Amino acid sequence: MNSIIEKAKSLHQLSKNEIILLLENNSINDNLFKAADEIREKHVGAKIHLRALIEFSNICKRNCKYCGIRIQNKNTKRFRLSPNEILNLSERAVQKGFKTIVLQSAEDDYYNIDILGEILRKIKKNDIAITLSIGERKFEEYKMLKESGADRFLLRIETTDKELYKKLHPGMSYENREDCLKNLKNLGYETGTGCLVGLPGQTTESLANDILFFKELNADMVGIGPLIPHKDTPLKNTPANGFLLSLKVMAITRLLMPDINIPATTAMETLQKNGRIIALQSGANVVMPNINDNELKTKYDIYPGKAYVDYSELEKELKLIGRTISKDKGFRVK
Ligand code: 5AD
Repeated sequence: MNSIIEKAKSLHQLSKNEIILLLENNSINDNLFKAADEIREKHVGAKIHLRALIEFSNICKRNCKYCGIRIQNKNTKRFRLSPNEILNLSERAVQKGFKTIVLQSAEDDYYNIDILGEILRKIKKNDIAITLSIGERKFEEYKMLKESGADRFLLRIETTDKELYKKLHPGMSYENREDCLKNLKNLGYETGTGCLVGLPGQTTESLANDILFFKELNADMVGIGPLIPHKDTPLKNTPANGFLLSLKVMAITRLLMPDINIPATTAMETLQKNGRIIALQSGANVVMPNINDNELKTKYDIYPGKAYVDYSELEKELKLIGRTISKDKGFRVK
């Protein structure tokens, strides 16, 4: 087992079977996390990149079976920020010294290319990187958004198990999602993807395939998080036990992709006390604090109990583990 970890550390390459062995054997976990931490230190250093997360609409046309803001959840209070409200929040991020803004929303077609383009161009008057996370769009739209100033894009594949993908995403197509990711890459976006861990019927083989998919795509960022069942979704009775496995998927991803950006995801912190710091010591190097007002934070209810970042608390915790906050935009350094 430990020779597999050594191999991953030196070659950044593993077979599917080797990944499955690592995922299924829990006696090696401490060594795995330590190895991922060492590789993170060696390739991307001690700095933590902060991304200011702005959630600007929870009005969704999709019906993903795990997600609390799916179209069929009638209990969610919907909101949609105006361009001016988005710009004000972006200004807040700039004032606070963030070097990256993440504009995230449900799949809401209200925001067409004209509206989004204008927002991007206005934000871009500041010296700040912009990440979009707005779901599937056409190639032409991605192209125009890039030209308007977007630098990065986040679109999780969620799962590479095609059967499972189909079950969880009614009316959506796995092939289209993959095409979107390839289009984003080809257009020169720094492209982020990732997966959910703990989906019903998900196997360690399918998680190994997810990791190999990230590598095959040459993703620049990978976000991995445990499923947190939401009471108003068809997955309400799924057990919320994906923390450890999601940490392992993340650590293996770091070993195989040493120079990418990997967030300590909010879902990890939500499911496990100290989950964020544990993740930052097991391969992660990014934190995405939500900068919306409290009222909106709770309305963006993809899963219950979402954890938030207390900035001064985070600074203290980072100091304790020998890490500091980066002052640059935090692009992938190859
Ligand atoms: N639990 C954990 N993560 C979720 N997401 C959506 N619903 C849930 C849930 N119930 C994740 C998806 C999506 C990201 C923004 O949030 O992976 O890509």
